[in-house]
Amino acid sequence: MTILRDKNTSVKDFREIVSEIGMLITYEATRDLPLTTKEVETPICQNRGPPQLRAKIRCGSHSPGRLGTWWTACCVSVPGARVGHIGMYRDEETLEPHVYFCKMPKDIEERDIMIVDPMLATGGSADAAISEMKKRGCVNIKLMVLLAAPEGIELIQKNHPDVDIFCGAVDDHLNEHGYIVPGLGDAGDRIFGTK
Ligand code: URA
Repeated sequence: MTILRDKNTSVKDFREIVSEIGMLITYEATRDLPLTTKEVETPICQNRGPPQLRAKIRCGSHSPGRLGTWWTACCVSVPGARVGHIGMYRDEETLEPHVYFCKMPKDIEERDIMIVDPMLATGGSADAAISEMKKRGCVNIKLMVLLAAPEGIELIQKNHPDVDIFCGAVDDHLNEHGYIVPGLGDAGDRIFGTK
């Protein structure tokens, strides 16, 4: 996390570390999912195992293009996951999220949902994304973020006490522009080198 926070970290290193942390967080977030075993024959004897994931998983990323390295890291840990997208933008003045795009597979309500977003700041867009999934009948929902602010965690825990949050670190507070402090700046800009 310290390397991600450093403003002098290169785009290449930033992307790689986002991917590494994404895999670690996914590992934690999937550890309680139901497993099944498989009978195999080793060169020595019959053996039951290793366990296989039984759950059907779907990752929902907020922004399809800009945050690609974050959700693709999750797919490395769960290769068969179906991925849907909720596109949102944040009104610069009100900081309120607006959904402009939503594409989900048909059997979504049968799946374990892992919502993936790099930053949990005010919590507004994660709150809206979770509500959007619940509207579609989803019940097993988890939220995975790189970095969280206490304000965002509080909002999600108040509005969605059933949703567990997995994050790389919890920071101190949000500043008047809605940025996490100390934070790492704008996650999209850091991933794509746009600033
Ligand atoms: N989104 C970001 O990319 N960074 C923040 O600090 C807050 C929201």
